[in-house]
Amino acid sequence: MEVIKVKNYDAMSEKACSIIMNRVINLDNPVLGLATGSTPEGLYEYLINTYKEGEISFKDTATFNLDEYVGLAPSNPNSYHYYMNEKLFKHIDIPDKLAHVPNGSAQDLDSECRHYEQLMRDRKQIDVQILGLGLNGHIGFNEPGTSFESRTHVIDLDETTRKANARFFDAPEDVPNKAITMGLETIMDSKEIILLVSGARKAEPLARLLHGEVSEEFPASILQNHKDVVIIADEASLSEL
Ligand code: GLP
Repeated sequence: MEVIKVKNYDAMSEKACSIIMNRVINLDNPVLGLATGSTPEGLYEYLINTYKEGEISFKDTATFNLDEYVGLAPSNPNSYHYYMNEKLFKHIDIPDKLAHVPNGSAQDLDSECRHYEQLMRDRKQIDVQILGLGLNGHIGFNEPGTSFESRTHVIDLDETTRKANARFFDAPEDVPNKAITMGLETIMDSKEIILLVSGARKAEPLARLLHGEVSEEFPASILQNHKDVVIIADEASLSEL
């Protein structure tokens, strides 16, 4: 794993944008894996600005988001569909049919998971997967204890995760109990992975990711086994090393 140390959140976002731009410009029909949460918001702003300046087009790019809450319709402001539309998709020229987010309000969730895997297989491989880091070491919504062999599946969210994400909801009890997430094996199939980490509250999980043992108890540790991971981390998040 390569660690790129940057000054702050803005520098992290800018650096990630420049790597993604390079891949989107140089690959035919690029496939990006996208994340939600607070961490990639700055990256998406940079990508939008780059697009508006005419430096890049996403018309041949396909995207696959990592996860979605179960039970939230795309029109729900807390759904990741809504987040992605507001924070990226509606501002760029990506065709709707190429921008994929798991359907958390599907009637048959297991069949939705299989369908999502098939859509990814149809595109062969994710070229660049963006990840954020959960405080408990989750990536996507793969909570501690998730099998390293997992594919896209439905997961029960940890209470700690529900608490961490309650800030986005009107009331803590509104945070869904379940989510659909790409599995750890699905994520590891990506050609290249960029993990974004910012802020002092991520310092402990980042130290564990870099120097702890590889264990299903700390899902992000699986990244130690991937041959092309770049971690863009700001000074505050590297303070525990
Ligand atoms: C969320 C998401 C993850 C995200 C992580 C960190 O629950 N499911 O994809 O990377 O937790 O979130 P944040 O970036 O807000 O710290």
